Amino acid sequence: MAKLAHAQWSSRMGFVLAAAGSAVGLGNIWRFSYMTGESGGAAFVLVYLACVTLVGLPILVAEWMIGRRGQKNPINTMADLATSHGRSRAWATIGISGVLAAFLILSFYSVIGGWSLNYTLGSVIGTFNGQDSDAVGAIFDNLLGNPTALLLWHTAFMVLVVGIVARGVTKGLEAASRILMPALVVLLLILVGYGMASGHFGEALTFMFNPDWEALDGGVVLAAMGQAFFTLSLGMGIMMAYGSYLGEDVNLISTARTVIILDTAIALLAGLAIFPIVFANGLSASEGPGLIFVTLPLAFGNMAGGTILGLMFFLLLTFAALTSAISLLEPVVETLEERTSLSRTGSTLVSAIAVWVLGVAALLSFNVWSDVLFFGLNIFDFLDTFTSKILLPLTGLGAIIFFSICLDKEEARKELRLDIYDFTLWNLLAKYVAPLGVIVVFLTGLI
Ligand code: PHE
Ligand code: NA
Repeated sequence: MAKLAHAQWSSRMGFVLAAAGSAVGLGNIWRFSYMTGESGGAAFVLVYLACVTLVGLPILVAEWMIGRRGQKNPINTMADLATSHGRSRAWATIGISGVLAAFLILSFYSVIGGWSLNYTLGSVIGTFNGQDSDAVGAIFDNLLGNPTALLLWHTAFMVLVVGIVARGVTKGLEAASRILMPALVVLLLILVGYGMASGHFGEALTFMFNPDWEALDGGVVLAAMGQAFFTLSLGMGIMMAYGSYLGEDVNLISTARTVIILDTAIALLAGLAIFPIVFANGLSASEGPGLIFVTLPLAFGNMAGGTILGLMFFLLLTFAALTSAISLLEPVVETLEERTSLSRTGSTLVSAIAVWVLGVAALLSFNVWSDVLFFGLNIFDFLDTFTSKILLPLTGLGAIIFFSICLDKEEARKELRLDIYDFTLWNLLAKYVAPLGVIVVFLTGLI
């Protein structure tokens, strides 16, 4: 990105689409629902909502503003801004840990993207038609137990990602999300409607919004914060890189609000679509990463027009996953391109192959390597946990602290277009609430 002349987004709309393209993905539908189910429901959801607002919003704005100031890739931006404000170049390590996180996340993200592709095909050929919950569960278990199939779909997903990046059609993809994202929302609404008709919608509502605070512990809080970072694509320098393309005329706070509301709405809708199916069929909410794959096909398999709706849903989910995956590959490619003698194409291939190899290790952890454990977690869980609960919060913390101590207050106030009073509030959030929140959650989560 940084080697191109720094063209700017033609409009605020273009920027919102790009940022939403990165944010909206498997995190909203696959990860949000399974984490909610696994963490006991409402307490997790409410902490997650608090994290998105109190931590996510300020960090998103901070990343964009740093990027807009620096006009370079995250590593060089941090280094330059730090030195020009009389601080150490060591701040650039934040950029490096962000790139590492993006690399690790893409490896397992691609495996799940592969599941989504596989379910797209399954919908086309009617695999789920008329099946009961046992049969749908068995279909999923068969996929997990079949390393060759997982490998094939993971590879297919990575090939799509590389193909899109190499052909430079990511802009076209963003334009397409203008239509496809609303379509995804419509399908989710249909599923929510189906859930309402199932007679178990009330249970789902209670599960998601009526907290049993007893269930809340440090682990749940840390999981909720990790989800907030993951879903908003924070703590990886990705939003920072996007910020470097952002025109001076774009209002950062209102744009962040738009992106966050969209991302959050999609996650909540996904939950309201999935949990009624869980309760109506006596399934377990704590099923884990397979949750959407053992619930949604059940609904599609048994509703009128379900074949076509299921096909559309998994296609749109795959599309959303692709736009997010592309944004994850970009920082890795860019870093290689700028730090080695590799060309753009060479960097893309090397990054993708490295990601693919790690993804293979992740997919093997569902079968032949299921007892290979790191800190008690299989490879997949380890990659997911280490990135969302450790790397992202720490990198995001670094970005917000950097923002507060390295950028001039009055300048920031003008740039955010806030009057003195609102700025005081903002400052409270950015300087104290967000960083202390991350630190407290992080420490209690680890203990
Ligand atoms: N935010 C994306 C999602 O919710 C995942 C992602 C994480 C994308 C980090 C880019 C960077 O699916
Ligand atoms: Na998201």
